[in-house]
Amino acid sequence: MPAMTSPAPLNVCITGAAGQISYSLLPLLCSGHVFGPDQPLNLHLLEIPPALPALSGVVMEVIDGAYPLVKSVMQTSDPNVAFRAAHVAILVGAFPRRAGMERKDLLAKNLPIFKAQGQALNQVANRDVKVVVVGNPANTNAMVLSHFAPDIAPANITALTRLDHNRALAQVAKRMDTSVSDVRGVCIWGNHSSTQYPDVTRATASGKEVLPKMGGFGGLAEGFIPLIQKRGAAVIQARGMSSAMSAANAIGDHLRSWMLGDSRIVSMAVPADGSYGIRKGVYFSFPVRCVRGGSYEIVQGIDLDEFSRKYIDATAAELYAEREEALALFE
Ligand code: NAD
Ligand code: LMR
Repeated sequence: MPAMTSPAPLNVCITGAAGQISYSLLPLLCSGHVFGPDQPLNLHLLEIPPALPALSGVVMEVIDGAYPLVKSVMQTSDPNVAFRAAHVAILVGAFPRRAGMERKDLLAKNLPIFKAQGQALNQVANRDVKVVVVGNPANTNAMVLSHFAPDIAPANITALTRLDHNRALAQVAKRMDTSVSDVRGVCIWGNHSSTQYPDVTRATASGKEVLPKMGGFGGLAEGFIPLIQKRGAAVIQARGMSSAMSAANAIGDHLRSWMLGDSRIVSMAVPADGSYGIRKGVYFSFPVRCVRGGSYEIVQGIDLDEFSRKYIDATAAELYAEREEALALFE
């Protein structure tokens, strides 16, 4: 029998690596749950200098996990070191929203972070690096990152809306009294914000249309849609901190679908290419199909009803405005 050779290690960079999402994400990555049980990893962990002591504790725990797939762990506060030869970059670190801060203030605080990280990725990352932006405002941070990383294909930069997708799947399954694995045709359009449009108008559960059981369009508008749009805020209200376990799980799902392929339609925020009338220049969540080997395509040909179009236009308008605000800060 020929000897089995294991694949070359993937260099996986996580920013905000001492934070709470990273703490839930690292075990998923290290155990092989995301990139596969035979895929070795080199971990590149980035933090700001004040968080390096805490990060060294996280690194001790990764080592103590004795994960056979983890070949090395590097910790640094220098993006040019962290992103060097990165195959995958998970951008979790961001300036947190403080009480009284408007979305615009949050954009202004995050712009220098994503500008510097875009420039570093452009200089030192693997040319085919796959990037997922998690730190909020995730879609616009991805747009900023891409602007400052002109040599990385814009399609290789994505933002996370899989958590919203999973939240929608779970609520549909609960309403239909079935398993999430029997639900098809759910997707998230637009911004990872309270204007997102969780779309179940064409969804089925075990082959049955879900719309009638969800109360028709009126029921969606009053119940399901605001529930998903405000789910992140509800978790913050209850926990005093934002979602971490479910966010980490969604990052794992996003990367596994993207890298290994997925037979289901999933949601990812990707560069708008004019599909469904969304203007180029923003990162917009669309239903996508992921093909094994790290590529994806926006699902085409969906016939959008008036109800859906109204929500999609509203979330697009928010992203166009965020883009203008960010561009004004570039000067
Ligand atoms: P956290 O505060 O626990 O951790 C964030 C970490 O990022 C901190 O350790 C901080 O030191 C670090 N950091 C800040 N600036 C950095 C920089 N320039 N470089 C490297 N590291 C930096 O927060 P968390 O709960 O892990 O959440 C992180 C982000 O993810 C937040 O912006 C949050 O709003 C967002 N989030 C997004 C989603 C989504 O679905 N897209 C879901 C949940 C949370
Ligand atoms: C979430 O959807 O849970 C988070 O994006 C909320 C937040 O503001 O961190």
